[in-house]
Amino acid sequence: MGRFVKVAEDGDVRPGKAKAVRLADRKVALFNENGAILAYEDYCTHTGGPLTQGSCADGVVTCLWHGAQFRIADGAPLTPPAGGRLRGYPVRVVDGAIEIEIDE
Ligand code: FES
Repeated sequence: MGRFVKVAEDGDVRPGKAKAVRLADRKVALFNENGAILAYEDYCTHTGGPLTQGSCADGVVTCLWHGAQFRIADGAPLTPPAGGRLRGYPVRVVDGAIEIEIDE
């Protein structure tokens, strides 16, 4: 069973944008999709490009390195050369803090 840990303040992630956060040795990508906060590992499933340095538009993030695209709402790969679905974290917002669930 995991535990929730704070990674950002609510409001730190602007709509349509991505924010990179570090949590010990984890690199986490936070997205604000129409007010919903989503969290994924900040690695493209092709060869590990940093998703947060890509571009976000119309609910899709495009990897900076080779152009793979993923649907932000669920991490689904949309275009090659994506290697599979993004690995996500459960997210909650509590008392103004964005928290993600990590394994112990
Ligand atoms: S590392 Fe993302 S498309 Fe290649």
